[in-house]
Amino acid sequence: MDSAPRHIAITMDGNGRWAAARGLPRSAGHKAGLTPVRLCVEECSRLGVEALTLFAFSSENWSRPAEEVASLMGLFFEAVEREIAELHRQQVRVRFIGNRQRLSVRLRAQIAAAERHTADNAGLKLQVAVSYGGRWDIVQAARRLAAQCASGALRPTDIDEDRFAAALELGGLPDADLLIRTGGERRISNFLLWNIAYAELYFSDRLWPDFGKEELADALEFFAGRERRFGLTTGQAMKARGP
Ligand code: FPP
Repeated sequence: MDSAPRHIAITMDGNGRWAAARGLPRSAGHKAGLTPVRLCVEECSRLGVEALTLFAFSSENWSRPAEEVASLMGLFFEAVEREIAELHRQQVRVRFIGNRQRLSVRLRAQIAAAERHTADNAGLKLQVAVSYGGRWDIVQAARRLAAQCASGALRPTDIDEDRFAAALELGGLPDADLLIRTGGERRISNFLLWNIAYAELYFSDRLWPDFGKEELADALEFFAGRERRFGLTTGQAMKARGP
């Protein structure tokens, strides 16, 4: 049995409902969502999880009211500014995935600085998905490889699953083993389509700001109880895993 995931991905859903239930603006829910982000980073570091990827803002979220988009962009900027020293102290390596062209020059500069600052850290690999969509990711990987074929650097027959995966935003990281989604919805919503091919899916009814240590432990316990066969029979999978 695989008891610990190497790579956890989380769709942090339910901030708006959390705020509405308290008569607060949606932005207050997003702000409250930073607390479980800190907790998950600390816990994953403590447990020796290799990678944690958080879905903070999707390609589709650009269509939200301008005021909410602006408040989220402001929150990302402030969070990076405020948290980067602590993340660095924890040896976390931070990277952002998604379409940066749509971000402000100021935010782009801020996240590039955070990535440079933590690039050599050997601890948890933290990926924050902002302006990210799984289909966008696949299309931009296809474009990159097509450009290499057009320039003669690559032959179409050289493209296999490994090379394709390497051209994706999470190239170089193991596939996600466990995908957690809070907020009660049971769908993928265009997150990491390629990289979750064999992920175990854990859905929690908790709203993201209420997601705590116990809920993360529940998700890890669920994962530890799964038999991961990757398309093999139980007997084959047991043999492949070894003693
Ligand atoms: C989805 O809840 C949540 C978001 C769109 C924003 C998530 C962002 C954070 C928690 C901040 C994290 C920041 C960093 C830098 C990691 P929703 O608004 O869709 O909630 P609802 O379904 O209740 O409306």
